[in-house]
Amino acid sequence: MSLPPGLLYLAHQLPRLLALPLGVYCLTLVAERLFDVAVPRWLAAALCLSSGPIVLTILVQYRDWKHRREAAAQGAVMAPNLPGWIGGLQILFTETADMYPGEGLVAMTEKLGTTVNARFMFQNRIVTTEPENIKAMLATEFATFEKGPIFRNSVAPLLGSGVFASDGDMWKFHRQMTRPFFNRDRISDFDLFDLHSANAIAQVKTRLREGYAVDFQDMVSRFTMDTATSFLFGKNVHSLEQGLPYPHNAGLRSSITPEPSTPIDFATCFQQAQMTLSLRSRLGANWPLQELFAVTDKLQPPLKVVREFLQPILRDAVANKKMREGVEEEEDKLNNADRHVKEGETMLEHLVNYTDDQTILRDEILNITLAGRDTTASLLTFTVYKLAEHPQIFAKAREEILRVVGSTGRPTFEHLRDMKYLRAVLNETLRLFPPVPFNERTATQPTIFRPSKATGGPPIYIPAGTRCIYSVMVSHRRKDLWGPDALEFDPERWFDERLHKYLIPDPFIFLPFNAGPRICLGQQFAYHEASFFLVRLLQAFSTISLDLNAQPAFARPPTSWQVDDESGWKASEKVRPRSHFTLFIHGGLWVKMEEAQSGDDV
Ligand code: HEM
Ligand SMILES: *[C@@H]1O[C@H](CO)[C@@H](O)[C@H](O)[C@H]1NC(C)=O
Ligand SMILES: *[C@@H]1O[C@H](CO)[C@@H](O)[C@H](O)[C@H]1NC(C)=O
Repeated sequence: MSLPPGLLYLAHQLPRLLALPLGVYCLTLVAERLFDVAVPRWLAAALCLSSGPIVLTILVQYRDWKHRREAAAQGAVMAPNLPGWIGGLQILFTETADMYPGEGLVAMTEKLGTTVNARFMFQNRIVTTEPENIKAMLATEFATFEKGPIFRNSVAPLLGSGVFASDGDMWKFHRQMTRPFFNRDRISDFDLFDLHSANAIAQVKTRLREGYAVDFQDMVSRFTMDTATSFLFGKNVHSLEQGLPYPHNAGLRSSITPEPSTPIDFATCFQQAQMTLSLRSRLGANWPLQELFAVTDKLQPPLKVVREFLQPILRDAVANKKMREGVEEEEDKLNNADRHVKEGETMLEHLVNYTDDQTILRDEILNITLAGRDTTASLLTFTVYKLAEHPQIFAKAREEILRVVGSTGRPTFEHLRDMKYLRAVLNETLRLFPPVPFNERTATQPTIFRPSKATGGPPIYIPAGTRCIYSVMVSHRRKDLWGPDALEFDPERWFDERLHKYLIPDPFIFLPFNAGPRICLGQQFAYHEASFFLVRLLQAFSTISLDLNAQPAFARPPTSWQVDDESGWKASEKVRPRSHFTLFIHGGLWVKMEEAQSGDDV
């Protein structure tokens, strides 16, 4: 069993914290001997206690002075500090319960500029919503910015060293071995989408016919989980078949929550591990502070389930490949690995051509499960939320689907390519509710953020080792970048003059999938999966409405959102968006839908 992380953290930090006071105490003893004076106890104690803060203050002041000098030498300035006390420690105590993700950055941007220093634990932490700077981090200065040790260390227990978390040569290795898998559109992927969406929609119909609302977010996370695991390692974990939860207002039925059993344990435990890691990464290197009183490492039990579930699957995949190797020539296989990803082959079957190492295989698979599953579920959830809110947009999207695919036909690649309106609806959702709203990089060497076209201002100096957090969610909602109606959900902006005015001149204002060498590998797959599901959903149902009574009371938008809405983000919101690595709706998205009558074709 592993030691509680809080204890390990203390054991690691205590010597550092105590060294200075102890040193000062020894000095007073030495001074007493040497000069034969009695240092009063209170003075000795005061010296010991204050030595830490004094030395820390001097070091921080010196570092800041040095940075300002380096900045000035290059004609730049340091990013303005967010107001706050003692090195940003108040973040630990700030009540975040009623906050809307990213909203705090809007006011900050208006006061101080689009790039600020939000110090935490005396460490500089740059936060930016500026497309120019994001572009530098992701593309033009890719070599200067890595995911960084803090991100790596906080996700390493779940992801190990996979393509998502690694940097440098390790990342290149992983990217090169996973990329071929996404290079080609495969019919077999559509077979999976069809199987699991049929399954999901059947469950939804049953529940609605019983007269209850459905948590669309929960349902669609099961859909993307079953699809992802089938696609990645050929194992449907049957999370849909566990059954959907009942709403809290269903009376007696509400107690019937699906019992976790073996297959879904993978999904539940994966989710749990992810949740813990997300909290940790918010606190950076000092995350054990928040788990100081935990008796064990919270991460270990769910992680164990996830690993035990995968273990036989990995073992079989490696064994199968060894068997095939007897038949084929090793050399041939390696040469062909990049080019031939076969129809119906799983990611795992592809990856065993590169390595037998089960840890690498496991990390890679978990990596991509993480990258692809919640993100796509998030996109589908917020799309349905907005479609329920805008019946005329719903009608137009549905009309396109019935016109192009018909009321029962199965969508093909060509269909999806032709449905421009559906794509615009997805883009508009990705703009206002990007599944990955925040992200970060760390500068490996000193660099400069150039002044932005939009807001001007002096160049900003970024010292080596600085953690830089960026939010595409906030830039996607900036009125100076997207126009005065930036907060409106309006798919038409993807066709009309607004497209030419805003996005075409500056593509970096829209980055739901990131950009540059680390752009999302699964972008096409995600568009296909989400579009396929929506086609099937809108073929099956002719209306969608929110059932706000089914929304649990704890999850409703706080009343303060109505009165205090400077950003304009909150007052009209019917649900509460929240974010751990990905954006989701607190308490779920409870909807009712009417089944389509046959002959709805246009
Ligand atoms: C709407 C759905 C999706 C969104 C919004 C999304 C977004 C992103 C973003 C923002 C990144 C960059 C992370 C970073 O570098 O910090 C990323 C990376 C990645 N995504 Fe996606 N993703 C989606 C779906 C998928 C799917 C379905 C898959 C695979 C089946 C996938 C596989 C990956 C992989 C492998 C990476 C790592 C690439 C690298 O670091 O080289 N994504 N995604
Ligand atoms: C996949 O695994 C690699 C290598 O272990 C890791 O660096 C990467 O972060 C993982 N990718 C995702 C998307 O989680
Ligand atoms: C949606 O966004 C993608 C990525 O930026 C773009 O290539 C595509 O043209 C957009 N499609 C529509 C219909 O807006």
